[in-house]
Amino acid sequence: MVLKGRVAVVTGGTAGLGRVIARTLTDAGATVVSASRGAPASGDRFPVDVTDRASVDALVSGVQDRYGGLDILVANAGISRPGPLVGLPVSQWDEVLATNLTGVLHCVQAAAPLLRASGAGRVVTVSSLLARRPVVGAGAYSVSKAAVETLTRVLAAELSGDGITVNAVAPGVVDEGMGRQILANERLWGRLRGSLASGRAATGDEVARAVLFLASPDSSYVNGHVLHVDGGLDY
Ligand SMILES: NC(=O)c1ccc[n+]([C@@H]2O[C@H](COP(=O)([O-])OP(=O)(O)OC[C@H]3O[C@@H](n4cnc5c(N)ncnc54)[C@H](OP(=O)(O)O)[C@@H]3O)[C@@H](O)[C@H]2O)c1
Repeated sequence: MVLKGRVAVVTGGTAGLGRVIARTLTDAGATVVSASRGAPASGDRFPVDVTDRASVDALVSGVQDRYGGLDILVANAGISRPGPLVGLPVSQWDEVLATNLTGVLHCVQAAAPLLRASGAGRVVTVSSLLARRPVVGAGAYSVSKAAVETLTRVLAAELSGDGITVNAVAPGVVDEGMGRQILANERLWGRLRGSLASGRAATGDEVARAVLFLASPDSSYVNGHVLHVDGGLDY
């Protein structure tokens, strides 16, 4: 029960990979709030739109009211809008960056006072293999994840004096959520599989256990790191 007594928020924790992460942190003893746009305001769920700072503020103050603090933020909510960049409607580009990049910043800014008060705050962001291996057809997504990795490093340096660590996991293809759409697309999966040494997708658990490490006291001296959870690349 490495997270006993800790309070965690997982954005996008109601579906796909986020749901597996939320379950894994719960199994490790944490009290976990799963937040997403469609989440009801009841039990361990809370509605939030990470693109809207006021909505994120309401989530954080709701968690403070109910649980008295916050120790762990997993900024997992993310979307993709496929299509070549040259023809991508700017509204879709904006949507991806607002969710995947600005959404992470909103969450960290809003949560920072509580994470500071925790004394051992943990932020885990969720990048992607596509940050370092961008894919034509997922350009906006790839760019957003590359930016998330830089955001993670800068925030790690800014917050280290407050006892907060900020790290990222960068999964390859996961057999959960949006990864299942890739697995169902023979052409795209064929291309991606060729760059994975394992030749297979990760299970949600394989990624969630890496998140658990970065969310736990075991990673106290790991900061500003991008942990690739992709089974290794095939060079
Ligand atoms: N699955 C993979 O293979 C894979 C690989 C690499 C990285 N990732 C990353 O892992 C994370 C989770 O992906 P997934 O595959 O689990 O995706 P998913 O199944 O589509 O789930 C996305 C989650 O994010 C929430 N969400 C989306 N927009 C939101 C917003 N504006 N505010 C709050 N919540 C929002 C969704 O709930 P609502 O619709 O209710 O808001 C949902 O719970 C993403 O950051 C993704 O980029 C996934």
